[in-house]
Amino acid sequence: MATTTCSNGTKARFEGKNVLLTGASSGLGRSLALQLASCGVQTLLLSARKQAELEKVKAQCETLASESLDVQIVLADLSDKESVAKLAESARTANIDVLVNNGGVSSRSDFVDTSIEVDETVMQINFLSGAALAKAVVPGMIQKGQGAIIWISSVQGLLAIPSRTSYCASKHAVQGYCESMRAELASTGVTVHVASPGYIRTNLSLSAVTGDGKAYGKVDPTTAAGADPDEVAVTILDAVTKGSADFTVASGFSATVAIYLRTLCPAVLRSLLNKRYEKSKKKDD
Ligand SMILES: NC(=O)c1ccc[n+]([C@@H]2O[C@H](COP(=O)([O-])OP(=O)(O)OC[C@H]3O[C@@H](n4cnc5c(N)ncnc54)[C@H](OP(=O)(O)O)[C@@H]3O)[C@@H](O)[C@H]2O)c1
Repeated sequence: MATTTCSNGTKARFEGKNVLLTGASSGLGRSLALQLASCGVQTLLLSARKQAELEKVKAQCETLASESLDVQIVLADLSDKESVAKLAESARTANIDVLVNNGGVSSRSDFVDTSIEVDETVMQINFLSGAALAKAVVPGMIQKGQGAIIWISSVQGLLAIPSRTSYCASKHAVQGYCESMRAELASTGVTVHVASPGYIRTNLSLSAVTGDGKAYGKVDPTTAAGADPDEVAVTILDAVTKGSADFTVASGFSATVAIYLRTLCPAVLRSLLNKRYEKSKKKDD
């Protein structure tokens, strides 16, 4: 199991809070769960579809935390609106202080080969489910005069790359939604944080959907060489504690340069992305 430690500042920020975390069964979500447990949260609602994996994460959280931690598993399928509505109801009942919209799926296909149903599913999982959960918990947060929405976006929510239309669209939607929501909530005590990670060593490419909805089923070299999810989880919670609203994490040099190029020299970035796409097609031939 990961060795997690929580800095005093981050502990003070999350101690005693009721947290809903989606995508808690694997990867970054599992790491966030362990880190939140070691930071002294009071209630941790762990959500995803895979019960056995969630049970393992729950047991690990209980080992790391003090006896007063209440870890609950709430099974939910973020692609299913009714399932999300039930999860939202559980969150309302649990009086959530911190919502972490982390559950997500990636995509691997050119837009023309991607069925509109796949676009819709990726949008529902990565964006609309999180919006529904935020609508459910924010009124309670406003009543308390405090709360936080932490949404895990991606560098690909700041910078769209080819053969990821569904994924990039869903993560760009997250960016815009949160920017708008942040201003609306500015005077309420509820803060909105968007973390945009670069590549992390998780199952994300394995479970990515292809154009017909089947799993991609491969570990991409970029994912295999990605950052340690435990370290990314620590960085995200520390950044939220420091009040960062919109930040990249583990983004690497080339992604950071590309994000600047997008604003300063968009034509150069376009040319680089065109070349990247042509190269990937030659590899596929
Ligand atoms: N890995 C990266 O390189 C990277 C980079 C930038 C951003 N991110 C973001 O980080 C977040 C976590 O992903 P990860 O990298 O940790 O990948 P992961 O290991 O594949 O974890 C994805 C999580 O999302 C859950 N999930 C997927 N589809 C779901 C559905 N239909 N209903 C409910 N839960 C669902 C999975 O749980 P079940 O399968 O049990 O349902 C799992 O817990 C995602 O939002 C992703 O976009 C990842």
